[in-house]
Amino acid sequence: MNKSALQMIRHASLRQLQVFEAIARHRSFTRAAEELFLAQPTVSMQVKNLSEAIGLPLFEQVGKRIYMTESGEALYSTCREVFNALAHFEMQVSKLKGLKEGQLRLAIVSTAKYFAPRALGVFCRYYPDIDISLEVTNRERLLERMADNFDDLYIMGHPPETPDVVFEPFLPNPLVVLAWGDHPLAAQKNIPIELLAAEPFIMREAGSGTRLAVENIFRKKGLVPKLRMELGSNEAIKQAVAGGLGISVLSSHTLALEGATGQLAILDVEGFPIQRHWYIGHNAGKQLSVVAQTFLDFIKTESAAIANLSATLPG
Ligand code: PGA
Repeated sequence: MNKSALQMIRHASLRQLQVFEAIARHRSFTRAAEELFLAQPTVSMQVKNLSEAIGLPLFEQVGKRIYMTESGEALYSTCREVFNALAHFEMQVSKLKGLKEGQLRLAIVSTAKYFAPRALGVFCRYYPDIDISLEVTNRERLLERMADNFDDLYIMGHPPETPDVVFEPFLPNPLVVLAWGDHPLAAQKNIPIELLAAEPFIMREAGSGTRLAVENIFRKKGLVPKLRMELGSNEAIKQAVAGGLGISVLSSHTLALEGATGQLAILDVEGFPIQRHWYIGHNAGKQLSVVAQTFLDFIKTESAAIANLSATLPG
């Protein structure tokens, strides 16, 4: 940039450029003054000062009409570039502010609590100022919340099969057969699934995604589990299984912290572990906030690291 150009820029204020841009766009001093809530003499004065700083006229008036001079045209295209760049900068700033100050409303099915809070822990180390609200409930209740547009994002093992939702798989969610440590089947290999139907079975509550999956498995084989007890929590089911009340089928994530200890055995049943996935998504029409989009991208790109948080997963 030569010396005179530098001098010119030093003497032209952003306000003058704004006034000039409005006149050039409207080809009218009056309309520019209206748009900027300025008196017309103020607008004329700003352009006069700008023109003096540049050392060339910017407009020519012929009768009532205003024409731009060559230097006016050149300055107009420069102004467009400057103001576009500033608008882009403003968008970046608001995005950064959104990320800093935003809130993430996440709702997950009960079984996802074995990995989701720890994934959130990693996310919060990257974005410490984001407020998180985490709702943990079963699949049916999650679908109700989604219908009422309560949350930003949902994590579940079995998303609804309708076109008005968008879900993507991001993590394996294998289902395993659990029995107490010295169950007679614990030492056997390739146990036929028919033998499971003969065992007392402990089932998750109605509305649970795990229960839906287990019922499908049995139904596909033409079998019905011998229901011993229904429990609304994976932890309670593990205790009941360890206590010898029956066997169960749960996500292997439920063993993430302690693994299959001596008190619990994973049975080697034909077709198990059943390979399912965790899905993350939202209503198709939902406008995701910057925070929600950032979390969604994080979950998708960090899924391998999230899987490592549950290092004891089989299969
Ligand atoms: P649930 O869902 O916690 O409601 O059983 C788990 C799943 O769908 O895998």
